[in-house]
Amino acid sequence: MEHASRTRPGRTVADLMTSPAVTAAASESLTAAASRMASERVGSVVVLDDGALAGILTERDLLAAGAAGADPAAATVGEWMTPGPDVVGPDEEVIDAWRRFAEHGYRHVPVVAGDEVKGVVSLRDLVRVAQLRPVDGLYTDVPRGLEGVVAAETSVGSVRGMEGFFHYRQYDATELARTRSFEDVCQLLFDGELPEAGRPSVADELAELSSLPAGLEALLPGIVAASPGAPLLDQLRSAVSLLGAVEGMRPTRDLTHVELRRDALRIVAAMPLLAAALHRLAGGLAPVPSDPALGMAANYLAMLTGSRPSPEAAAALERYLVLTIDHGLNASTFTARVVASTGADLAAAVVAAIGALSGPLHGGAPSRALDTLDAIGTPERAEAHITSLVASGERIMGFGHRVYKTVDPRSELMKETAREIGAPLSGLAEQVEQTVLSVLAEMKPDRKLYTNVEFFAGVVMDGCGIPRQMFTPTFALSRTVGWCAHVLEQAADNRIIRPASRYVGPPPPQPVPPRP
Ligand code: ACO
Repeated sequence: MEHASRTRPGRTVADLMTSPAVTAAASESLTAAASRMASERVGSVVVLDDGALAGILTERDLLAAGAAGADPAAATVGEWMTPGPDVVGPDEEVIDAWRRFAEHGYRHVPVVAGDEVKGVVSLRDLVRVAQLRPVDGLYTDVPRGLEGVVAAETSVGSVRGMEGFFHYRQYDATELARTRSFEDVCQLLFDGELPEAGRPSVADELAELSSLPAGLEALLPGIVAASPGAPLLDQLRSAVSLLGAVEGMRPTRDLTHVELRRDALRIVAAMPLLAAALHRLAGGLAPVPSDPALGMAANYLAMLTGSRPSPEAAAALERYLVLTIDHGLNASTFTARVVASTGADLAAAVVAAIGALSGPLHGGAPSRALDTLDAIGTPERAEAHITSLVASGERIMGFGHRVYKTVDPRSELMKETAREIGAPLSGLAEQVEQTVLSVLAEMKPDRKLYTNVEFFAGVVMDGCGIPRQMFTPTFALSRTVGWCAHVLEQAADNRIIRPASRYVGPPPPQPVPPRP
């Protein structure tokens, strides 16, 4: 693993010091030294005695002399300079020089090699060139891809990668997936508690929102017509953007928790309606009206396919949806929190999160995993096919994970579910899985690569009758719950998420070349 603590090799004090240094003699007046500093546009002068370093006089010293009532025409540099100052060497790494400046509060330090004064380096030079932020004395290096960096505090849930365990609030997520409905878990994430008998429930609230705003419904054919053949997820992203506008969603910063929660329920309820309607329209079919009495999972399947699903298919899909509602600070959830942290509206956060999810390294993997199964065709061909993919540097979709360094519990439950519903690709997928794992273990022995949720998720969705192009949109509609729960949390205790970057380009400032 390469870490971002890499500073550019060769970046030393000599690269950015002012050289030669602007100098003064100890016997000169402050007026003479100050006018030289002004004309040379520097913040300090190095004081020399017979060519050797005697001290440094800085703008701060001039201010101190003025504050003490000294007459600058009569007072001498020798009286107000810092004698025998700390020095840096020209070959010193920028990062080490910065540390010294930060520790001692220096602003200007002479650069000396042996007895010879080579120049002066200022805090401003260091900050400008190295793009270091002068906060808390030091800045923080982080690993590439922010691996292992804690960027938020949450009580929504978390992933324990070494144990192969994840949870929503205080409950084991796989147990919730086996026993609870999508709506129940949505309530757990939004309100912190599972529903109780006789009390108002999120299921009821979602059922009340089970049709699209009329203005939006009328716009959907336009989205499909304007982007024929575009990935359904892209069209869904556009539709969510319109939903925010049609509903007049206001910046999270201007909303109470109750108002923001209402927006969240509106988006969660709209996602399956939008995804199914867009799918139907893209196929030249009329959208199927929603039947909220079916429950979210069965209703979604019915709206997609136009016929009432079997209880087994609906239960399998529900399991998948619950299993993928949330999963730590994954890329799309982080994206949602970043957008919300600016105070933007909830639709903006969800649109951005859908964009992050669309990538094949995140949510775009399950259909590609099935494409790999198609390309393999029969189990005997698996080893040669996978070996050649890995040898050519390809990643096998549905394997590997940033956090899990052991079995992904979601993958296990999806494998079991695929078997239970007799998903057509279940047998081939299990055989290919074994081949992929043994090829990866042999060809990438230092990596801990296991099957992730996406491999068998595709097999389950296929077994439920969901077409391949709807895999990632289906993932998006469950993960919307997690995104919204995180936005609710972010908004309740917000500080804008604004990290720093390290500049590694050519040292500025360079003269701007004249226009050609
Ligand atoms: N196939 C082949 N090699 C892999 C795979 C894979 N699926 N996954 C990781 N590796 C290798 C990489 O080539 C790399 O090795 P290299 O540096 O020698 O090239 C190394 O393992 C990187 O491993 P990690 O640090 O564990 O991976 P990282 O955290 O950067 O990426 C990711 C995780 C994106 C999931 C990666 O495993 C991958 O690309 N998998 C395939 C895509 C996929 O299934 N995505 C869905 C993820 S689950 C989800 O988002 C819901």
